[in-house]
Amino acid sequence: ELGGHAHYMLKEIREQPETIHDACRGRFRRAEATAQFGGLNMTPRQLRRVRRIVFAACGTSWHAAMVGEYLIERLAHLPVEVEYASEFRYRNAPLDDRTLVFVLSQSGETADTLGALRESKRQGHPTLAIVNTVGSTIAREATGGIFLHCGPEVGVASTKAFTAQVAVLTLLAIHLGRLRHLSFTDGLAAIEAVEAIPQALGEVLAKIEPAILKAAQRLAQTKSVLYLGRDLHFPVALEGALKLKEISYIHAEGYPTAEMKHGPIALVDRETPCVFVAPRGALHAKTLSNVEEVRARHGTIISVGTEGDESLEAISDIFLPIPDVPEIVQPLLAVVPLQLLAYHVALLRGCDIDKPRNLAKSVTVE
Ligand code: M6R
Repeated sequence: ELGGHAHYMLKEIREQPETIHDACRGRFRRAEATAQFGGLNMTPRQLRRVRRIVFAACGTSWHAAMVGEYLIERLAHLPVEVEYASEFRYRNAPLDDRTLVFVLSQSGETADTLGALRESKRQGHPTLAIVNTVGSTIAREATGGIFLHCGPEVGVASTKAFTAQVAVLTLLAIHLGRLRHLSFTDGLAAIEAVEAIPQALGEVLAKIEPAILKAAQRLAQTKSVLYLGRDLHFPVALEGALKLKEISYIHAEGYPTAEMKHGPIALVDRETPCVFVAPRGALHAKTLSNVEEVRARHGTIISVGTEGDESLEAISDIFLPIPDVPEIVQPLLAVVPLQLLAYHVALLRGCDIDKPRNLAKSVTVE
């Protein structure tokens, strides 16, 4: 079943070029420069009436939703809120009939996410779900939604479900954008960027492990790690930190890069490494000066950046390159070195990777 891989987590990390492809299969509509979904159960007219989106989820699914927030705001100019399902279900969050609620769940069985779905439906709102497991409770109770089609995920640390969720959310952002202001040309460019990801990710996976091993050795004995990213990469930083915590038991925190100065920089010293998620983008020059600030405090710097970015490579102790792709699809590539990094750190520390302590694959109690 493991097909020659040492753990399910590693197998699932390496499967991602195919699982992203499977999540998008049949959903591109090039002739109209958009994406399509069979199961939303909403007409284009109903979707155009939507004025606000709420995503409710837990853990990694919550991080994927946050990438979705940035993408939908960018491509469709719709306000999005991302809620912890456990908070949403008991808060009296105001929803009106032009708010569309989505819950996101790999398993489709997470108790709090199911609770959020039921609360939204109880208030009379159509409530959609982005789910991997067909036949799960959330899939059955939602009024419509999108399946991830990424195959069963066995590793307790979620990996391929995250990239499948982000791929589907990118297509959803394109779909909602094309119902509003996104032009044919920009829609087509976005579709082509998503289509190119499986191959680009294959290239990352083929080349990156030696650099990851070096980075893992730097982290294996450390007590605490900061993960920093901004814009679309802030949730990627949160996800990288969660992966490290879950399977290696090293304390890790994700922060928006520029927020570092407002507190977390106090933690930086020779013993506290920083992982920057910093592919080239509109704010890159600002990120480089944040990296310099950490360097000045002698913190080890591991960075995920764009291939050929000599300025970032020169100021990093370990540079983890990803291919140069449009910003909207960078999270799909940038998260994978972080998954592998967590995996190799846990391996060096002798941890039980597929069954980390205190965690279950799906949390079916509150
Ligand atoms: O099955 P779900 O997506 O609803 O699960 C949500 C979280 O419990 C899950 O993502 C958890 O945080 C994972 N262990 C992350 O690796």
